[in-house]
Amino acid sequence: MTGTTNSYILVTGGAGYIGSHTVVELINHGYNVVIVDNLSNSSYDAVSRVEYIVKKPVPFFNVDLRDSEKLGKVFEQYDISGVIHFAALKAVGESTHIPLKYYDNNVNGTIKLLETMAAHKVKTIVFSSSATVYGDVTRFKDMIPIPEHCPNDPTNPYGKTKYVIENILHDIYNADTTWKSAILRYFNPIGAHPSGLIGEDPLGIPNNLLPYLAQVAIGRREKLSIFGNDYDSHDGTPIRDYIHVVDLAKGHIAALEYLNNVTEGAGLFREWNLGTGKGSTVFDVYHAFCKAVGHELPYEVVGRRDGDVLDLTANATRANTELKWSAEKNIDDACRDLWKWTTDNPKGYAVAGYQWTTLAGTDGDYTSRVHTVTKDDLSVSFLNYGASIQKVEFKNQNLVCGLDTLDEYKSQDIYLGATVGRYANRIANGQFEINGETVKLDKNNGENSLHGGSNGFNKQNFLGPIVKRSADEENLILQFVLVDKAGANGFPGELIAAVEYTVGNDFVEVEYSATTDASGTPVNLTNHSYWNLAGNKSTIDGTQVKLATSKALEVDPNTLIPTGNVSTLDISNLDGKVDNCLIVRESSQINTSSESLVEVLEASHPDSTLVLRVETTEPSFQLYTGDYVDIPGKFGPRCGFCVEPGRLINAVNVEKWKQLVLLDNKSTYGSRTRYSFKLKN
Ligand code: NAD
Ligand code: GAL
Repeated sequence: MTGTTNSYILVTGGAGYIGSHTVVELINHGYNVVIVDNLSNSSYDAVSRVEYIVKKPVPFFNVDLRDSEKLGKVFEQYDISGVIHFAALKAVGESTHIPLKYYDNNVNGTIKLLETMAAHKVKTIVFSSSATVYGDVTRFKDMIPIPEHCPNDPTNPYGKTKYVIENILHDIYNADTTWKSAILRYFNPIGAHPSGLIGEDPLGIPNNLLPYLAQVAIGRREKLSIFGNDYDSHDGTPIRDYIHVVDLAKGHIAALEYLNNVTEGAGLFREWNLGTGKGSTVFDVYHAFCKAVGHELPYEVVGRRDGDVLDLTANATRANTELKWSAEKNIDDACRDLWKWTTDNPKGYAVAGYQWTTLAGTDGDYTSRVHTVTKDDLSVSFLNYGASIQKVEFKNQNLVCGLDTLDEYKSQDIYLGATVGRYANRIANGQFEINGETVKLDKNNGENSLHGGSNGFNKQNFLGPIVKRSADEENLILQFVLVDKAGANGFPGELIAAVEYTVGNDFVEVEYSATTDASGTPVNLTNHSYWNLAGNKSTIDGTQVKLATSKALEVDPNTLIPTGNVSTLDISNLDGKVDNCLIVRESSQINTSSESLVEVLEASHPDSTLVLRVETTEPSFQLYTGDYVDIPGKFGPRCGFCVEPGRLINAVNVEKWKQLVLLDNKSTYGSRTRYSFKLKN
């Protein structure tokens, strides 16, 4: 069964390394997922990146499993059909120093989880156990590769918590045979998602071979220590069973489906090893990783480590035959993916110069995140809501109008700082023709459709952002994505729209791109920031501008729809009302991104030492002096001016401009606009 119903799989520890990869696989298999994680060893960024990968929001609760009340609320809010339970502390060494914390977190946390499940009649659980429950299997003569029937004897508190939990689950099943428990004993998970967007992000000094080696490769650690090369293996180093984390994640889907297929009314308690069944030595892995990196990495052989044994390889036959699952990737795949994750995210999810918070009054509401990047004299803040620009501070002067709370953003209708889409500006009579048929759109501006309709991109929560440094390390990049459903505001076809901001030390550039599954759908994306060079408490009166063009579209004064004529408009200041589309250049492509940027406007104000310049690849731009703004107590008319590069107004209804805005499933829409800042000469 795949998750085709409205029920959810609860993933505890879903922000962690294995959990995040499993959530991706669950969603790819059609399951709905809700995540509970206390972020004690992870960050919300992992969840946000999972959403970016699967292009869907994933409900997340920052809850500790031991908080039964909060956990119960999640069970009340969602129809949960099963649980995949990753949440645990997992460092073997640490567990020997703080055993009580391990028993409390892992065992007590699981008891609270099981109580809550029982109270809500959820009796299906997939549990993250570990090969560590077997202990030192070399105590037996003939137990390698290790089968599930190998007796358990964990040698450290961490392993003992897993052993205790397995026993609790067994006892629950003995008491009520309708419980279904899959015990998955993992061998050594390695690698990362092939996208490079999620991976293992160890805090402090990594405990495991590959994360450590990855940090050596990017210069965060000096050299790898190899603990003993006098074991009885082909190169003297110990043998382990390394399994790619994506294969491991898929093992959970296989186990869940196995449990779902257990006869109605019956239960199950069963253990499965998740490993490849193939052992690799420390040197095998070292060489595979060096191959992925492209050069040798420094290492030193030191003495054996306490508790290490020669060989811990899985016998994975039971999982192979019963779950019909087997590992498909090898250590070369894992090393390649780990190296991509490492080079794309040298500090894990953290990026120097970037941080996020939530808008005022919305603690724990991850839909109201504010992402701030700081580069020398420039600090820019962005919201998921509308992929909006909330703040642009250059040399300590804020240059755009922004609000403080999500409610304020939701209740304004002036597209403040927002991404405008799916179709910026007006579509006459809210309709257009395609393939001989009339498509009717949401009319939200008299007879017209304006800025994508009443529920446009400005009101949507974008997923992401993925935050990274540019290839030359100079600039910070934030990538947001939105999946706009077919039929939204009347538009045909699904549109996947990406908004990428690049922040340099004196500019912010936005690049739009979009694809559709439709044979034709109109697209026109822009940004609707209200700029004010005089400080955002005053109006823009006194603002001086230099425009690259005086060619403007003549419009009907009532509908603001072009008449078909071009007029001349000489604008040198913003003291009067302006709401016009100025024509910069002829263009006939749906994707202008590869065109060079052309400066279209320069603005300054006598009260400020700063100059704003706007460059774009787009054929035209709307210049609007904010005359309709009315946000009581915050912003009134002429609080800022908007420079909105895009395609010509109503292009979709004009034969010679149509090809500028009609996107089909074979093309990609694109454009770039750069806002840059400098001191007056
Ligand atoms: P991880 O630390 O990345 O993920 C565990 C997640 O659980 C973290 O996000 C953490 O914040 C969360 N968590 C911990 N205690 C919690 C609590 N009380 N309430 C809510 N959330 C809590 O670790 P991982 O490597 O992804 O491991 C996942 C599971 O797999 C763990 O149970 C671990 O013991 C088991 N396991 C891991 C390995 C391995 O090598 N990574 C091997 C065998 C088994
Ligand atoms: C501008 C448009 C104006 C007004 C404004 C939204 O892009 O040109 O006419 O609709 O958006 O308040």
